[in-house]
Amino acid sequence: MSDHERGKWSRPPHRGRRLRRTVGIRAMVAETQLVAAQLVAPLFVIEGTSIRTPIASMPGHYRLSVDLAAREAADLAALGVGAVLLFGIPNDKDAQGSGSWDEQGPVARAITAIKAAAPTLVVWADVCLCEYTDHGHCGILSDAGVDNDASLPLLARAAVCYARAGADVIAPSDMMDGRVAAIRAALDQAGFVDRTIVSYAVKYASAFYGPFREAAGSTPRSGDRRAYQMDAPNVREAIREAKADVAEGADVVMVKPGLPYLDVVRAVRDAVDVPVAVYQVSGEFAMLHAAADRGWIDLDAAMWETSIALRRAGASILITYFAREIAMRLSDQESRDLVRP
Ligand code: PBG
Repeated sequence: MSDHERGKWSRPPHRGRRLRRTVGIRAMVAETQLVAAQLVAPLFVIEGTSIRTPIASMPGHYRLSVDLAAREAADLAALGVGAVLLFGIPNDKDAQGSGSWDEQGPVARAITAIKAAAPTLVVWADVCLCEYTDHGHCGILSDAGVDNDASLPLLARAAVCYARAGADVIAPSDMMDGRVAAIRAALDQAGFVDRTIVSYAVKYASAFYGPFREAAGSTPRSGDRRAYQMDAPNVREAIREAKADVAEGADVVMVKPGLPYLDVVRAVRDAVDVPVAVYQVSGEFAMLHAAADRGWIDLDAAMWETSIALRRAGASILITYFAREIAMRLSDQESRDLVRP
């Protein structure tokens, strides 16, 4: 008589289902968690007061004047969200992007207002010229295209302006070579040795930035960003970029976008010993909303699943347009199970 006939294999030797039986057991053995303090909420700040204009492709997100951005930041802090990441949308743009180092500009003023409204919230300032240049590129232009080295002092100037306003974290997203070193040197020289640099070290030229560019009015007027942002096929190059930025003084490195680059998050996590952040970008957020609007996916479940995937891939810090929703559910015991469907 064979084993099969004796019924030996009708009783599986391993029962993985025991650890999946109830919500409590699943939570007990979860290898990865979402942590509110490690969520970063992006905010778009505009000039004026009491202005709140919706961003069509990003449901629940608005361009906020400084006063309303400060109120929003205080709300997020009360929910336990760890940080906000500020993007400025100025009224006037020029070839140099000079609005990026304007001490009266929306970002500098928002930093100060947020620090007053929510003193413990960590304030990140994105540093890039693309929202401030009339041509929409992330550095200044010369005949040969975006001029890397000529852009560095301008980025450094913006960084110092935000540090002076009170930013805890300077987050350069321009992808110019050498900008972390230039920014570190400028911050140190201005007396801001204590401010953190989170480098968008591994930022891919991506189709998923569309809604952001609509929100910020930062679509390049001509050409694209492929000559400075990374090329999707490459992962070894991502490690080189991350290590180079750490060597230049980056305290944290970021991978962006998130979901299409989970392998890159893992590779970077394994290659460097600084914290790794990941940015679930505007197009990822918009895509989930669009499908949910049609009733094709469950938004809460997809929010949780994609967020946990980014953590599982190795990121500790999650920059996400879902920060508020995730923190709300984490802080509310009743709806906790919604975070873990
Ligand atoms: C600025 C910047 C961009 C994003 C963050 N910083 C746009 C871009 O590079 O075109 C995208 C964020 C998002 O899509 O959510 N350089």
